[in-house]
Amino acid sequence: MPARLFSGMQPTADSLHLGNYLGALVNWVAMQDEYEATYCVVDLHALTVSPDPEALRQRTRVTAAQYLAAGIDPERSTLFVQSHAPEHAQLAWLLNCLTGFGEASRMTQFKDKTARFGADQQNVGLFAYPVLQAADILVHDADRVPVGEDQRQHLELTRDLAQRFNARYGETFVVPDVHIVAATAKVNDLQNPGAKMSKSASSPNGIIELLDDPKKTAKKIRSAVTDTGTEVRFDPAEKPGVSNLLTIHSALSGESIPSLEDRFAGKGYGHLKVEVADVVVAALSPVRERALELLADPAELDKLLTRGAERARERASVVLARAFDRVGL
Ligand code: ADP
Ligand code: NA
Repeated sequence: MPARLFSGMQPTADSLHLGNYLGALVNWVAMQDEYEATYCVVDLHALTVSPDPEALRQRTRVTAAQYLAAGIDPERSTLFVQSHAPEHAQLAWLLNCLTGFGEASRMTQFKDKTARFGADQQNVGLFAYPVLQAADILVHDADRVPVGEDQRQHLELTRDLAQRFNARYGETFVVPDVHIVAATAKVNDLQNPGAKMSKSASSPNGIIELLDDPKKTAKKIRSAVTDTGTEVRFDPAEKPGVSNLLTIHSALSGESIPSLEDRFAGKGYGHLKVEVADVVVAALSPVRERALELLADPAELDKLLTRGAERARERASVVLARAFDRVGL
């Protein structure tokens, strides 16, 4: 039997960006061949940042449409919205009751967010976030969770909770592997190339959104911050802007960075930017068009998500029933 894989993203932006695409979606699409994959839009997690209800609803749909547009195949993989499978929140409660207060307090992402957020934005949901994440994984009997290094601590907590539950109540959960994957590419902000491309960037021109039209994409790449030199060379420390453009080109075109350096030797940044813009537009245009098509047909998207939730619940309800029975519910 192929290993079961679970992964998800929060619907917290009006569009996913090139970093999400190259860092996550491209891998997710490829992993469908090897794994029995479940891909989730984790809207319950997004509630921890108190979104506007209409924005949350819309962003959930856009995120799902972009998973599909990028190539997640709803026949081969299970694609659904977290809140459509109530088993996630139900299992989270059991796990909350098994999680130490101190243990949850040590989560560095929680500490970062509490430090960053004002007192009015802090809530118990943020504190319990990693426990809900553990429930997402365990309720699907996932044994593989491809995450970046920043999620290692949450994965360790998931394993601890699964082992603790199994030890206390008897064999119930699959204990997932920590499977740290190097992103296909780490994409940086076009305006601030020392920092990663992120929805929370200060300038919208630093981010290429999957829903940007081709003109806007090309313009953002032409306006990317480089340096005062002229040499096209991969050197993230000295030339973060140029290196970021080379990374993006290489990740999308498959051409190696040394080969790009050779081809652009003596040509200047303008040429590089034009070609990177072409490569990005060629790769993202079909994704954007497919996403727009899906968003223009709400009934079809709803149908796909309803079917995905049914599939997700078939498995999650069995695991949840097992866990409820074990604890005496
Ligand atoms: P953001 O940084 O915009 O808040 P998230 O933290 O929601 O994005 O990340 C969603 C997924 O996209 C994660 O798998 C993350 O590793 C990946 N990702 C986000 N930004 C980048 C980036 N700039 N380069 C590569 N991968 C990224
Ligand atoms: Na983030």
